[in-house]
Amino acid sequence: MRVHIVGGGLIGLSCAWRLRSAGHQVTVLDAAPQARAASWAAGGMLAPHHEALNHPEHHDHELWRLGCRSLARWRDLAAELGGSAQIDHREGGGVVPLRSPAVDASAARLAAAGVAVRALTAAELADREPALAAVPGGGWWLPGGQVDPRRCLERLAALCVAQGVAVRQAAVHGLQPGRVALADGTSLESDQVVLASGAWTPALAALAGIDLHGEPVKGQMLRFAVPDGLLAHFVHAPGTYLIPRAGQGVVVGATMVQAGFDQRDDPAAIARLAAGAQALVPALAGAAIAERWTGLRPRLRHGRPVLARLAPGLVLATGHFRNGILLAPATADAVLGLVEGRPDALIDCFAMPAEPGVAPERIMG
Ligand code: GLY
Repeated sequence: MRVHIVGGGLIGLSCAWRLRSAGHQVTVLDAAPQARAASWAAGGMLAPHHEALNHPEHHDHELWRLGCRSLARWRDLAAELGGSAQIDHREGGGVVPLRSPAVDASAARLAAAGVAVRALTAAELADREPALAAVPGGGWWLPGGQVDPRRCLERLAALCVAQGVAVRQAAVHGLQPGRVALADGTSLESDQVVLASGAWTPALAALAGIDLHGEPVKGQMLRFAVPDGLLAHFVHAPGTYLIPRAGQGVVVGATMVQAGFDQRDDPAAIARLAAGAQALVPALAGAAIAERWTGLRPRLRHGRPVLARLAPGLVLATGHFRNGILLAPATADAVLGLVEGRPDALIDCFAMPAEPGVAPERIMG
């Protein structure tokens, strides 16, 4: 089949790669020369269990199951991208430096579902992560992984091009099932259009008359320049996470603010993030901030991704919110199945919502 994918972030490229590997003729269209809104900005934790534990308000059972499925597929994707070292793929899990009734109850639910969670005393936590400030109550270790999203993007884009995917910088101004109109007036015909444009998907879907309510959630992040080895795992605390990045130091995230498409830097938010990280890891107190940036998480109003074929010739793969990197392999598998018309009971749970969902309280954290 001929497939046009609108969106050149990790989701769009993963779909392109999977479709191309299955023999389809694929073109990726993106308005920007490099997709920098979400994939490039992401932390890269592959952490369905940590997200379920620390952000239950953004999680449900089906999303967790999809996350587990995708986590298991990352090893294959890493191999396809040239091996773990190429994308800083690690599978050592991550620690949660916190015990509380709510966290412990979530950990117990994960354990009951078969996840190999481990409760850590203060001494065990200090043994696993000596750089952490003392946490008298101890914490948890949960399975999970991490990748460097920027390296994944580079590798995946190169692999797609090498395998014959056409990648074009072009803004889409019109859309119908099986047809995309570009800003220069060109009309492109295909068997399937896949919309995977992150925060821009609702506006693009509207061109095809589809009501997809969503608003980006801004995330600011920073990177401390410190030598490798300060942290052994990623550290996932309720308001702050820290991710060791090979050769680059420690990435710290992330704010959650609904401010439309505003990507301006907020120095006060960066200062709060840095202070939160330094409270967790005192050795960061003297470290230089090497980089700071802002991303836009694509959040739909009902809070979950949509992975669905809306009409013959039109597939949606969007709304990944806090989980785009984690969900890339499972999304690519899902899109291949949707394009080829194969049923999948879990993916059916991510159909278009019957109702757009109640607009949440403004997310500000
Ligand atoms: N996945 C972490 C975040 O969205 O900040």
